[in-house]
Amino acid sequence: RISDDAQEVLQAYDWMTKFYHHFLRYAKDNKEGYQYFKDRGITDETIDLFKLGYAPMSTNFTASFLDKKGFRLPLLAKAGLLSLREDATAVDRFSGRIIFPIRNHLGKTVGFAGRTTTGEKPKYLNSSESELFQKSKLLYNFDLAKKQIRKTGEVILFEGYMDVISAYQSGIENVVATMGTALTQVQARLLKRYVDTVIVCYDGDDAGIEASYKAAKLLRETGCGVKVANLSGGVDPDNFIQKHGGEYFIEKIVHASDTYISFLMRYLKRKYNLSNEGDRIHYIEAVIREIALLDSVIEREYYLQELANEFSLSVDSLKSETETVRKKLG
Ligand code: CTP
Ligand code: MN
Ligand code: MN
Ligand code: MN
Ligand code: MN
Repeated sequence: RISDDAQEVLQAYDWMTKFYHHFLRYAKDNKEGYQYFKDRGITDETIDLFKLGYAPMSTNFTASFLDKKGFRLPLLAKAGLLSLREDATAVDRFSGRIIFPIRNHLGKTVGFAGRTTTGEKPKYLNSSESELFQKSKLLYNFDLAKKQIRKTGEVILFEGYMDVISAYQSGIENVVATMGTALTQVQARLLKRYVDTVIVCYDGDDAGIEASYKAAKLLRETGCGVKVANLSGGVDPDNFIQKHGGEYFIEKIVHASDTYISFLMRYLKRKYNLSNEGDRIHYIEAVIREIALLDSVIEREYYLQELANEFSLSVDSLKSETETVRKKLG
């Protein structure tokens, strides 16, 4: 059962989702938000579908709008829709930012992300966490993606809003995002209920590859099949799709994504200096520890062979090492 307070917060978010969206689309004297999305290749249809918006540049436009409608402002400040000043007056939180409504799995807005269009910090300002809005339990776009996720048995996992929106616009609908934070067990379990395979497609930068490692590991532990896309050079999925289109993205990135072990090999190679003999051995041991965790004997053989080839070792010695590790694991 949802409380009266929660009901009121949802209603306020619903009003402001519509209002900010309408303001972005139709305000005659303010095209800033609209122009921003146009410059990033987002169509009117997509703006409407995701209810993208713009919050008027004002300290109390939203606050007085909601006040006039009879909402309790302190409640809305607690729910992160407004901010509290030091003197405890509730004021606008997102003014002058473009708005991404964050929907829960039923399609209701439970939070906003407001992005600066002028390079201010932070780049994204979110609603504060509340009972209704917990980033760690939500996946952005899960409500819209669900149908296609079920149908394909696959989901593509992104970092951010624009990755999802550009992919969706280009016809790739089984896409969700973690909104920048580390994938959590709650999110992993949710995905596990719907798919065989999660394709982790984080940004091609250091932060992205570290986050991919953690996400891939957690997904494996949760029992999901995992593949990991290989973007590089600081490119993110939104950049790639806007430049090359969705079909090329599917062909070159999604279909070419690494298996879990291939990804680990790629990841571990960054950690070790393979031209150094000691490091090389540590690398091989680290890969063996991961291979030992695989249930399928065929998979184990396959990757051991790959490892053996790479370092001109006998596959038999790698196999016996793997069995030793497995015995220790029990
Ligand atoms: N994020 C956030 N707060 C920030 C920075 C990032 O909440 N200050 C979250 C957002 O959900 C963002 C995601 O982390 O979409 C990924 O961050 P990043 O890659 O930096 O942003 P992009 O999604 O690429 O955003 P843009 O393309 O608009 O720069
Ligand atoms: Mn990033
Ligand atoms: Mn990014
Ligand atoms: Mn981006
Ligand atoms: Mn496929």
